[in-house]
Amino acid sequence: MEYFSSLAIALIFIILGKHGAKLWERIKIMNIGNFRKEYTLNGLRRKDLNRDPFKQFELWFQQACDANLPEPNAMSLATASVLAEPSQRMVLLKYFDRKGFVFFTNYESKKAQQITENSQVSLLFFWVALERQVQILGNAVKISTAESIKYFATRPRGSQIGAWCSQQSSVISSRKMLEMKFDEIKRKFQNQEIPLPSAWGGYRIVPHSFEFWQGRQNRLHDRFLYSCSDDDSWEIQRLAP
Ligand SMILES: Cc1cc2nc3c(=O)[nH]c(=O)nc-3n(C[C@H](O)[C@H](O)[C@H](O)COP(=O)(O)O)c2cc1C
Repeated sequence: MEYFSSLAIALIFIILGKHGAKLWERIKIMNIGNFRKEYTLNGLRRKDLNRDPFKQFELWFQQACDANLPEPNAMSLATASVLAEPSQRMVLLKYFDRKGFVFFTNYESKKAQQITENSQVSLLFFWVALERQVQILGNAVKISTAESIKYFATRPRGSQIGAWCSQQSSVISSRKMLEMKFDEIKRKFQNQEIPLPSAWGGYRIVPHSFEFWQGRQNRLHDRFLYSCSDDDSWEIQRLAP
């Protein structure tokens, strides 16, 4: 009986052809509860940690770059309004040093609005191929216009024009309007340098905590939290996974 039912199922998929393959994909997707991955690549021990979380981050970031991961500098930025309504989106880390982690955006966007109301934000990197995540909590501060100009000048011309066209996070009527605006700005600044739009610039996230997470077998992951103390030293604690 089992033999005949397996045969019947196989026949159905053969008859359905490529539609059968699609159907099978959908059936698999429906079973996401069964998606499971054991993390076995590495461990993180206290004795391996750098006392300085910026140096620890630099090491992991370098390893993410060396592993040729796509967009290792992509990070999720979580913000919350004054009413504690959260929101998050991906942004690109453009540089970091001991002063903090810098990304660029539109100062009239939803994220900027939330940062104005509440400057406490969270950054999250997930380097899946390394089975690692890093969470950074900190205070977001606008960088100086001079610093934004310096970075803006390094952007490709198309991105510079794009920054002028998009009133980020506002509702627009069509893509056509966006493209018309792009052509208009392109004409306007023909044969000259594109200046920094007044609503565009960087934020620096000044961290007060870092968490380094390394996936381990049986969900017994390694987690280390660095918290900044009043005397600017960093306390390191292991957290339960
Ligand atoms: C990988 C990736 C990188 C992104 N980098 C940026 C960025 O650096 N700055 C930015 O403003 N938006 C970036 N975006 C778009 C944002 O995710 C988001 O759509 C936009 O900033 C508007 O967000 P908001 O409406 O919450 O302010 C990126 C999106 C992706 C998927």
